[in-house]
Amino acid sequence: MSFIEDLIARKVFNNRGEETIEVDVVTTSGFGRASAPAGKSRGKAEVMYYSQGGVDAAIKKIEDFIAPELAGLNADSQEEIDETLHELDGCSKNFKNIGGNVAFAISLANAEAAANSHGLFLFQFLGGNSATSLPYPLGNCISGGQHAYGKSPDIQEYLAFPHGAETFIEAVTANAQIHKKIGDFLKKKSGTFNGGKSDEGAWIANIDTVDAFDVMAKACEEVGNELDFECGFGLDVAASSLWNEKEGKYVYANEGVKRDSGDQLEFMKELIEKYHLAYVEDPFHEDDFKSFAELTRRAKNCLICGDDLFTTNTERLNNGIRINAGNAIIIKVNQIGTLSDAVKAIETAQRHGYVPVVSHRSGDTCDWHIAHLAVAYRCPVVKIGVMEGTRIAKLNELVRIEHFLGNRAKMADLKIR
Ligand code: PGA
Ligand code: ZN
Repeated sequence: MSFIEDLIARKVFNNRGEETIEVDVVTTSGFGRASAPAGKSRGKAEVMYYSQGGVDAAIKKIEDFIAPELAGLNADSQEEIDETLHELDGCSKNFKNIGGNVAFAISLANAEAAANSHGLFLFQFLGGNSATSLPYPLGNCISGGQHAYGKSPDIQEYLAFPHGAETFIEAVTANAQIHKKIGDFLKKKSGTFNGGKSDEGAWIANIDTVDAFDVMAKACEEVGNELDFECGFGLDVAASSLWNEKEGKYVYANEGVKRDSGDQLEFMKELIEKYHLAYVEDPFHEDDFKSFAELTRRAKNCLICGDDLFTTNTERLNNGIRINAGNAIIIKVNQIGTLSDAVKAIETAQRHGYVPVVSHRSGDTCDWHIAHLAVAYRCPVVKIGVMEGTRIAKLNELVRIEHFLGNRAKMADLKIR
């Protein structure tokens, strides 16, 4: 047992220079710290990050109201801590009273403090002795959509996916080499390319939505040949950002094309077939469960993943499960608020054969807890990025976990359906 003695909250900054909240949880025998990330292309159904007054008001609320209520509770009982956070919030559906990012930072800092109190790493504390498999990293190489500027591709993310790697460090090596190669290709291809990168460390270039596919395919193939294992790739279409509700069309501004839902379905299917895509996230807008189900039925050997569609929300996931919409789910703890809520989504996904993909946010800190969550809860894929400090913090933590596990470490069992 380890009892909470105090919570210390402070304002820190994310990689965009935005203010965010960091919380320390001090227990009778340990300490944990976590800071909250922030999304740019957020799902409508995500919880609210802060209540009125932003980070400053949140700090005051933690000091005056939340810390005294949590003091004395057993940090080992994560569910009790998370339930208490819901109660202190007045059980609103979206954490509008204490703020989802406040709940996130307390929840994760508490888990870390409990692990630390027992002298364990977080992945060991949460996952036990048999948590020994490492996830495959999806790595963002080209940014478009809301994550880029100018005449960039309409699709938000082109993601390297080295799913043939035999170790995590090999997979990270592949992603780094693919990213570098793409930079070299873009330099040759686009006269205006100046080496600019997005928040997630992916390249920003004035190239066509479709040209970007050829660049990705060539880089992945070459690196796959050099390293002698399969390097595929995938996408985050982030289609809610393309969807124009009034017109009932997906607007590809760069490409100069508009697609209705039927066209979008055909387009996605063609891309999956032509480029052997192993992963497609949010191919349709966040309320179109039906098209997700249709694409899942028709696409072969590809994870069809819901991010804005599910927002780590078990109720929304269950809506998807009922009609087989997608076969994978993005897990972003701050979309739902607490670790226990996210674990519920992960476990529901796993029971129904959905692949949980633990993910960073475009606005992030050097917090590395998602590395531990992926290993602890046996999530076979992580979405972390390739370059940029806040991504490297998480990748290197997974490298450390693999190193620590030594010959007990193995890659996750991932079947791409
Ligand atoms: P974010 O988007 O900007 O909301 O973090 C990333 C994503 O859509 O996966
Ligand atoms: Zn997404």
